[in-house]
Amino acid sequence: MELLEEQRENWGSRGGFVLAAIGSAVGLGNLWGFPYKLYSYGGGAFLIPYIIAICLVGIPMLILEFSLGHFTQRAAPNAFRRCNKRLEMVGWWGIILGFVIITYYPVILAYCFSYLWLSIKGIFNGGALPWAGVGIEGVENAEGFFYNTYLGYQESFSLGSIQWQVFWPLVVAWFLMYLCIFRGVKLVSKIVWLTVPLPWLMLLILTIRGLTLDGAIQGLAFYLNPTWEELAKPSTWRFAFGQVFFSLSLAFGVMLTYASFLHRKSDINNNAVIIGLSDFATSFIAGIAVFATLGGMAFATQQAGNPVGVEKVVSGGPGLAFVAFPYALAQLPYSAWFSFIFFFALITLGIDSAFSITESVLASIVDKTGFKRDIVLILMSLVGIGFGVIYVTSGGLNWLGVIDGFINGTWGIAFLGLLECVALGWLYRIDRLRLHANERSDFALGQWWNYLIRMVIPVILGTLFVWSLFDDFSGKDFLVKEAGGFNWPNVVGLVVVALAPVISIVLSLIKSPYPEDNPESAPLETKGQSGSFAGLVLSLVSLVLLVVILVIPLTIGVCEVLIVIIILTAIGGLLLANSILDRFSKADSRVSVIAPIAGILSVCNISVALATVLIYITKQVKPSQVVHTDELSGASYIILSVVFLLIVVGLGWCFYKAMSGAASGESVPQTPEDQAA
Ligand code: PFF
Repeated sequence: MELLEEQRENWGSRGGFVLAAIGSAVGLGNLWGFPYKLYSYGGGAFLIPYIIAICLVGIPMLILEFSLGHFTQRAAPNAFRRCNKRLEMVGWWGIILGFVIITYYPVILAYCFSYLWLSIKGIFNGGALPWAGVGIEGVENAEGFFYNTYLGYQESFSLGSIQWQVFWPLVVAWFLMYLCIFRGVKLVSKIVWLTVPLPWLMLLILTIRGLTLDGAIQGLAFYLNPTWEELAKPSTWRFAFGQVFFSLSLAFGVMLTYASFLHRKSDINNNAVIIGLSDFATSFIAGIAVFATLGGMAFATQQAGNPVGVEKVVSGGPGLAFVAFPYALAQLPYSAWFSFIFFFALITLGIDSAFSITESVLASIVDKTGFKRDIVLILMSLVGIGFGVIYVTSGGLNWLGVIDGFINGTWGIAFLGLLECVALGWLYRIDRLRLHANERSDFALGQWWNYLIRMVIPVILGTLFVWSLFDDFSGKDFLVKEAGGFNWPNVVGLVVVALAPVISIVLSLIKSPYPEDNPESAPLETKGQSGSFAGLVLSLVSLVLLVVILVIPLTIGVCEVLIVIIILTAIGGLLLANSILDRFSKADSRVSVIAPIAGILSVCNISVALATVLIYITKQVKPSQVVHTDELSGASYIILSVVFLLIVVGLGWCFYKAMSGAASGESVPQTPEDQAA
């Protein structure tokens, strides 16, 4: 371990690491994912699940990944292996899904490169942009340019021909990613001083410009006026949690890998809060820039009600970035310049996210096999381009949407997050990670963090998972069409996510040339048998009752009573198992294996029971009719103030903690240079 500590490269400075992690977190997801999800799922109301997700799940899990990576100094698979030999597959699972992301994420960067190039040409051609058009009809032009002229798009899922005008920019994107990471994280820590502040500057310019346009307030009303009924839909919660995971680059081993290169004495907890809040701030401000500009466009083209550009936003990512926004900019003065700024922002936002995933896959392979980094990186880039070819065909965008939906939805990201917490919370002595993080951080976490990881987050994610499964399978045509035959895109998506655990098991069975990290320790006395057994009995009782209400048709009244009993007995089992772990999971004793079984079973029971209740309740809620007004409502002003307060006070507090720690000398040096000083 010590040897590896000296050999492993590191970031060089705290700023380098924090910026690199922010660079990974802040990406395309912030500029196109967040604003349209917020708009589509309740406007300002969406912020409630989103902020809950950040505070309760996002930041605590960021701390979990940082502390695990930092503690073990390994990329994801080996980091999990160090905790427990059988957990290596959890690490690989994330890495494989991360690899799927890098087959399509650079394709979107490729679109940005093309649009950037066209914007530059526009600047030199007196402002002429190929997607520009006059008035409302112009939107058809923007759409036609993106889908027909540029993508050669066809609606069918058959791939069709390769679109070379997209392929070559894809090669450029991979080449740039290669250049950014081929020298290791020291170089990355320098590059992010450019790729993080630059898009912030661009976003600031776009925001100021958007807010100074006539009609901006109307746009903000679209963005922020809350539709509270949306909170009763599983999709709202699912998308809020999914977006937090994706946006913070959680579950794919990226943050874990980045932290493995962090110097031994570096802060963990405060860094995680800074990164979480900065990511949120970027998303929220990006939404203001986008919607204020759309409002300005609606005013300029005299569109009342639901402006065309806004409809395009609702259709999601590419619709926003490559149709609605370019169209909106084209309606306004200096369109080529602002288009340049917009696409440049997208590229600088996206490139560091893309190479962060590449780095985590690369580090995992290198850590496991000991192969040469340069060669693995070149091979990976070629394989990445190879798979990318699927997405640069005429039908490629359809596949991009489907695969992205599976990876970032319940089946991929949420399930992985759940697995990560269960694995580390129940099958490993999580307190070790908390103490490790506390020892070197600007502020310390209490035991509540253990309970979040062990119980609260798994229950939240488990409930969402079951709730969403119900949603998927009760919807029409999910896997098998009513009209007959399979729904192939979904079948393929499901196969991709289902293959990940299989490949992970195979990879974790391959022997590493390195000596085992955690040699067998002397057998320890097993403790807590009787308490664990009692916990197991409670969780089994709740399981049996759960099966009863799911299988046997009962009256609503009986179901209600049973559900309460199920939840209470499962909570009893959970708390008992948790207390056994607290008491006996120590360096000098071993906890009975029954305790984690009781705990995990209880988590599953509570999740299924809660999901059943939610499914029942939300069925009673009538679908809401979203009514848009042109005025910012009072609630929106309150939302704006609360969000800004949260961000400013939160970040202020973090910086105060960082500085007061440094000033009082209690803060530990962050780099070898600091240490030497
Ligand atoms: N966080 C990035 C974004 O918001 O665009 C995307 C991302 C990067 C997801 C790295 C996952 C990941 F591992």
